[in-house]
Amino acid sequence: MSIKVGIIGAGFISGIHQRNLALDQRVELAAIYDVDRERAGALGVDSVDELFARCDAVYIASPNTTHADLAVKAIEAGKHVFCEKPMATTVADARRVHAAAEKVKTVFQVGHNRRFAPAYRRVAELLHGCEAHCAHIKMNRGELLNPPWTADASVTGGFLFETPIHMFDMMRFQFGEIVGLDAREGRKDDFSCLIEFETGTYATFVTSADASWFFPYESLEVYGAYATIQTFEMESIEYRMGLDKPTMKEHYANLDVPAKWGFAEEDRRFIDAISQKAKAAVTSYDGLRSVEIACGCYLSAAEKRRVDLAPRP
Ligand SMILES: NC(=O)c1ccc[n+]([C@@H]2O[C@H](COP(=O)([O-])OP(=O)(O)OC[C@H]3O[C@@H](n4cnc5c(N)ncnc54)[C@H](O)[C@@H]3O)[C@@H](O)[C@H]2O)c1
Repeated sequence: MSIKVGIIGAGFISGIHQRNLALDQRVELAAIYDVDRERAGALGVDSVDELFARCDAVYIASPNTTHADLAVKAIEAGKHVFCEKPMATTVADARRVHAAAEKVKTVFQVGHNRRFAPAYRRVAELLHGCEAHCAHIKMNRGELLNPPWTADASVTGGFLFETPIHMFDMMRFQFGEIVGLDAREGRKDDFSCLIEFETGTYATFVTSADASWFFPYESLEVYGAYATIQTFEMESIEYRMGLDKPTMKEHYANLDVPAKWGFAEEDRRFIDAISQKAKAAVTSYDGLRSVEIACGCYLSAAEKRRVDLAPRP
C-alpha cells in the first residue's frame, strides 16, 4: 500500500519535494495546502485539517516561522513529518517540537539536506581516515533583496535561520557535537564565529548576508595531519591526504540539483524510514541543536561573550 503524502506550502522547495516524491513508487502525493489556494493546484485542499485527513505523512514547506506550530500539530495528529529547516526559530519552540516528536513512534525528519549531498558525504568519508585538526567554514548570501521576505525576520526568524543554519548542522555532521561558540556581528547579518567541538577541535565560521553572489557561496576547508580538504559549493571538492599524495579533484557539477544538493536522497531516506519503521536520518534533536546554535550565535554576538551549549540530556 502506498504512503499518502500531503505538503504544506506550494513554493520553491515544495516543488523539489513534489518532483522527488513523484519518482518514488512507494508514494502517492495526496494533497497540498497553501494559504494561496491557487498555488496548490489540482491537489489543493482548503485547510491543514483536510490535508491531515488525506495523508499518512506531511511535509512542512511553508515559511520558517510557521514550522514549529505546524510540526506539533502534525505530530499530534499521528502523521510522519518531514519539516523543512529550520525546525523552529526559537529554542523554546524547538524544544516543544522535539518533546512532541520524542513521545511518538512516527518518523520525524528535518530538512538539513546538506548531509546527503555527495560532496559533503565524500568529505565525511575522507575524514574517517583523517582526524580534523581545525576547519574554516563559509556560508554567504549575495543579498537579502530577492525575494523581499528574505530580509523580514517575522518570516525567516532572522538571517541565521535561513542558509547559515545548514552549516551548523553540517559542522555537527562532519566534526561531532558543538559545545560552545563565540560569535561577533560586524554589521547586521555579518557574523564571525569561533566554534568548539566536544572532540577539542575548533573551527571558524563566517557568514555574510550581502557578499554578492561570488562563487563559492558556501565552502568547507578542513586541515588534518599533512592533509587538506576543500569544498566548492556542492559542485566539487579538492583534497590532498598526505605529503606524498597528489591533489585530487572530484566533480559533481554534472548531477541535477535534487541529487547534487541531497534533496533526492533526503526524501528517499524519509520514505525508507517510514517503510522500515526506522529512525529518521536527521532527527528532531538535530533540528533542536541547529536552532540552539543559531540562537547561541545571536546571544553571543549581542553580549560579546562565549556561549556554552548544554550537553545532550
Ligand atoms: N532545505 C533547503 O535547502 C531549503 C531551500 C529552500 C527553502 N527551504 C525552506 O523551505 C521553506 C519554504 O521556502 P520556499 O523557498 O519554498 O518559499 P516560497 O516562498 O517559495 O514558498 C512558501 C509557500 O508557503 C506558502 N505559505 C505561507 N504561509 C503559509 C501557511 N501558514 N500555510 C501554508 N502555506 C503557507 C506561500 O504562499 C508559498 O506558496 C522555508 O522554511 C525555507 O527555509 C529549504
